Parts: sequence; C-alpha cells; structure tokens
Amino acid sequence: MRRPLFSIVIFSVIAWINDVNAAATKQSDASKFISDASTRYYKLYNKIAEETYSSADDEDFDTIFSKLTTVKRIAAELVTISEEASDYDLENIRDMQVKTALRNLRRVGELFVLGEDYFSSVLINFAALKELSTDKDIEPYLGGAYMPDQDDSSLAYYPDIQKIFQRSNDSDELKYYWETWREKNLVWSSVNFYTIIEAFQKAAKILDIPVLEFWFRCYNNKEFLREMERVMEDIKPAYKELHAFIRKELHEKYGGSVVNPRGPIPDHLFQQVREQAWQANSVIEPYFPKANLPPYDSFVAHYDAKDMINAAENFYQSLGFDGLDKEFYEKQLKEQDQSAENGDCRADIFDLTPHVYMKYCKKVEFRKFLQVHGYLGRLHYAKEKQNLPSYFFNSYDLEYPVGEAIILSASTPKHLQAIGLSKNFEFSDQILMNRLFRMGIHTMLNIPLYFVHTKVMTDLLNGTVEIERINKHYWELMVKYAGVEPPSDRPESAIDFPYNFYLDMEENHQTKKFVSEVLGYHFYRSFCEETHHKGYLHNCDFYGNMEIGNSLKSMMSLGSSKPWNETLVRVLGTNPSLSGDALLAYYTPMLDWLKAKNRESKVKIGWNSSQKKIL
Ligand SMILES: *[C@@H]1O[C@H](CO)[C@@H](O)[C@H](O)[C@H]1NC(C)=O
Ligand SMILES: *[C@@H]1O[C@H](CO)[C@@H](O)[C@H](O)[C@H]1NC(C)=O
Ligand SMILES: *[C@@H]1O[C@H](CO)[C@@H](O)[C@H](O)[C@H]1NC(C)=O
Ligand SMILES: *[C@@H]1O[C@H](CO)[C@@H](O)[C@H](O)[C@H]1NC(C)=O
Repeated sequence: MRRPLFSIVIFSVIAWINDVNAAATKQSDASKFISDASTRYYKLYNKIAEETYSSADDEDFDTIFSKLTTVKRIAAELVTISEEASDYDLENIRDMQVKTALRNLRRVGELFVLGEDYFSSVLINFAALKELSTDKDIEPYLGGAYMPDQDDSSLAYYPDIQKIFQRSNDSDELKYYWETWREKNLVWSSVNFYTIIEAFQKAAKILDIPVLEFWFRCYNNKEFLREMERVMEDIKPAYKELHAFIRKELHEKYGGSVVNPRGPIPDHLFQQVREQAWQANSVIEPYFPKANLPPYDSFVAHYDAKDMINAAENFYQSLGFDGLDKEFYEKQLKEQDQSAENGDCRADIFDLTPHVYMKYCKKVEFRKFLQVHGYLGRLHYAKEKQNLPSYFFNSYDLEYPVGEAIILSASTPKHLQAIGLSKNFEFSDQILMNRLFRMGIHTMLNIPLYFVHTKVMTDLLNGTVEIERINKHYWELMVKYAGVEPPSDRPESAIDFPYNFYLDMEENHQTKKFVSEVLGYHFYRSFCEETHHKGYLHNCDFYGNMEIGNSLKSMMSLGSSKPWNETLVRVLGTNPSLSGDALLAYYTPMLDWLKAKNRESKVKIGWNSSQKKIL
C-alpha cells in the first residue's frame, strides 16, 4: 500500500507548513529554492533528452522515454521538487512571480507522484490506448465488390482503415469498420481509459491542484472552457451552413435510409467527408474537382528534406529571427533512420528545455514542407525564451498556433509565387476556392470534435458525469455541437470515441488542437492586418515583415512568466481572448458560396434530434 501512504505524507507536510511560524521562516528562502529547482529541472530533462537522442533506436521520444531505466530516478527527483515546492505556504508569499513559480513547481511531479508502481502501470495504460489504433485485429470487409488485389489479412485502424475511409464510397463498408473497431476494442479501451481518468484524479489530489487545472495544464484559467464554448457559438451559424450542404450531398449520394435530410449526419459518413477533404471522390468533387488543384507535390519535388528545413528557416529569418545555432545543426538535428512504415512520418521534437532536439523524417511532399514550418516554430520559440527559468519555460502551448499562422502564410499562392516554387502555375479564383473549400472542410469539421473530446474529458474528470453514462453523454454532445449521430443504435455500455480521441491523451492533445487551430487563424489575421493586406485574407503572405517578427518575439520571450491574456496581447493587441471571428473572416468566400448554394437548393439549415437510440 505504497501510494496512499505517500499521499498521507504529502498532506501532513502541507498541514504542518500551514503553521504560521514555520511558514514565516520559509518565505525568505523561496527565491533561492525556485532558482535551484529550475537548474535541477533543466538538468534532469536535458539528461533524458540526451540519452534518448543518442539512442540508435528509431523510436520516438515518448516511447524511449517510457523505457528508460533512468526515468525512475529522474521521476523521484521531480517528485521531490514537487514536494519541496508544496512546503511553501503560498498565502504568505507576496511576490507574485515567486508565488507563480512555486505553483508551477508544485506540479512538475505530474503523474510521477502516483508512486513508482502505479505510475508504471499508467504508462502501460497509455501505451495500450495508443495500440488500439495500430493493432492489426480487424477482419476485412467482405461485403464489398471483389477486388483482385485484396488480401484477407487483418487490418489496423491506422493506417489501413483510415485509408479505406479516404477512398471508399460504400456506406455499408464504412459502417462495418466503424462498428467492428469499436466492438473489438470495447473492453480494452474502457479498462485502460478509466484507469487513466482515475490516475489523473488521484495525482491532482496528491498535488493539491483542482483536477481540471491539472488536466488543462498550461491554460490554468477557470474561464477556459467557457472561452472554448464561446468559440463554438461564434462559428455555429457558419458551421450549420456547411453541415447542411454536406448532409444534402450525402443524402443524394446514399439516400434517405442512410442519411436523414433533417437530422444529424451519421458518424461514419461524417468521418468519410473529413478523410476525403483532399481526395478526388469527396462530396465537393462535382463543384471543385481535385484535378484542378495545383500540383502541390511537384512544387517541392526538387527538394530533399534538408532543403525543406532551409526553406522554412528562411521564412523565420525573413521575419527577423536569428538563425538556429550552428551547434544545433551539428549535434541536435538528425534525420530519422527510416521513414515510418506507412508513410506519414512525423518529426520527433524535444523542446521542454532550451536545449532542443529534432529528428526529422526524410519524406518530401508538400504537406511535409508545410509541417516543417510548424516544427521550426517550436524550435524558434524555445530559442526566444531560452533565458527563462524552467518554471516559466512552458508557453501555454502557443508554439502551436504560431506554427499554424506561419503555415497559413507559407501555403498561400502568393508566397509560393514569391519564393519561386509555383513559377509556371496560374492560380485562378476558382482554384483558390478549391483550396479554401478543402481546408475549410478539414478545419471546420474538426473543431467541434476537438471541443466535444475536451468536454468529455473534463466532465469525467470533474465528476460532472458518471462513467456509466459516458456513451450517452458523448452522443448528446456530438448531436448538440457537431450535428453528428451514430450510424446505428448503440449500447449505453459501449464507448464510441474515435481512435484519435486517445492519441497523446497525456498531453491533452484535443484541447491543444482546438487552441492551435482557433488561435492560429487569429494570429494570422492579426499579422495580415499589420501588413495592411488587401484582397482575400486567405491569400495573405506576411513573409519578410520584421514588425511581425518583433511582436512574435516579444510574446515568445515571455514564456509563461505573465498571465495568458497578457502574453497573447503582444500579438493580438486588444481583446486577447479566444474567438471564432478570424476563422470566419478567413473562410468568408466559402461561407458566401455555401449560403447561396443552400438557399438555391432550399435545404433545411440545422438538425433535429437523432432517431438513433443509445440503449
Ligand atoms: C464511387 O462511386 C462512383 C459513382 O457513383 C463510382 O464510379 C466509383 O467507382 C465509386 N468508387 C468506389 C471506390 O467505390
Ligand atoms: C424538425 O422537425 C420539425 C417538425 O417535425 C420541422 O418543422 C423542422 O423543420 C425540423 N427541423 C429541421 C432542421 O429539419
Ligand atoms: C465541476 O463540478 C462542480 C461541482 O462538483 C461544478 O460546480 C463545476 O461547475 C464543474 N465544472 C465544470 C467545468 O464542469
Ligand atoms: C487579463 O485578465 C485580468 C483578469 O483576469 C485583467 O485584470 C487584465 O486587465 C487582463 N489583461 C489584459 C491585457 O487584457
């Protein structure tokens, strides 16, 4: 019974510290403590990164991290820092910076505070959830048309079934995979998932941090969920137009027995539409054929992976950023040994300390070219805040929206022409719309899902909803916010979350995606206003603008030493809160087109409740 004992020890330490006399003597050495703790923290994480990085293995940081034997020792040290930080009575500390530092240091123990055995088992739970999508355990669908090259080996959700969603227009086939994957994984996903929920609740309790604050990590703002909800309200009218258009197309394609023209969209088809956003067989194909899209991959075909990094680096330098260090290029930047089996390899980046590392993937294609612009945003962010102590080094995850904003600019026809990548290609208005529409489907349909996933987690962690009711609750939220229903009646005992719900759960990936999309557009619009851009917002390129570089740098150098809103204000100016306005401004041409189209075809906007039952 190691863990309960452990928490009792911490609680009694806190109780003891609350004694006024003890606290008074502690106050004076708090500054020294936080400075030492920062050094210790950096040393520990740099050691982890160095060992991980020099490993010959071609696994990502997270995987190796969890395997390292030194992790246990390092975890113990982090827990010690947490405990020591908890020894200070915050009530008696007047200096706001010291107070925030102590509060941040309290949590460095993270889930390690659960104790060695418990922590190890939680790691296994996380790993198990990751494998839900990669285990090849789904029998192939046999009801479809015979395909000569079809083999009958079992499939994994990722990437096999995902690829089927990208190419198939057989509703029964999609429904089969949708249901079978969930049935196959029900027991396994619920056991692991529920244990993780409990682990977060317990760790928060030990650390004496409200569970939602612990879960949201960097957005330690009580208003945060409400801000997210406001974004959902901002975009709702536009979302409904897009929803109505897609539902009508699906209804025409699949008929009334599959798609109710007044109800929510069945999830398997909703997923198909998202997966097909950049494919040839999508619902927008009759209006915006894929063949008319620019030959994006050919724009970068003469590059190798290193050239793509240089091109992205050139973007940052055009904004006035210093180049990345020579030492970084020599020692901390590496090519992955081999590209991930099934194509979509991602770079591994370590940026928890100023001593960053990146292992990039060799693949050359336009999408990678854009992603590299995002990766470099993380590296430059770390460089700009390198003088901060560890407890302010986190930057509210703002490196992700910064990367998004840069990507939005780097992907514009205007930019591609400016840097000579699309020399011989003519971008007509029709082509601009084609691109915008596909981006819009991807972005606008995913945002409600990120929100629902965030809400499911917070409602469970906060105890607002019982675990037994979670599937019903999930579908209530899906109907309400996304206008999406299950493909068929579902058992209440199932858990119907999609595979990406579980991805990178330990770092609250779904909230991070929500914020980086919404704020990414917000940053982008703000930069475009600064350049006095005229014309379509979606063709604004702020490459080469030093003032934008300066406002970015002034935000980046703050890390989290100032509150969230005072950090954002450096880039956004007034009213630094989450809002859907920029997103709507960006997609205005698409939304105008949708409204006209919907009016013309007289479709209903909005949806009635679902006829599907959760029993
Ligand atoms: C999708 O449907 C179209 C026509 O409705 C058909 O030509 C095409 O082959 C189908 N594609 C697949 C992958 O079934
Ligand atoms: C919902 O149903 C009612 C009555 O059954 C109908 O008047 C209304 O138009 C429907 N809403 C939509 C979006 O179809
Ligand atoms: C969390 O639960 C408490 C009551 O237990 C409730 O007052 C609060 O509103 C909940 N917070 C959220 C974000 O649901
Ligand atoms: C940030 O929020 C606090 C209250 O939470 C407010 O007092 C302050 O004025 C805000 N700062 C900015 C720059 O909006």
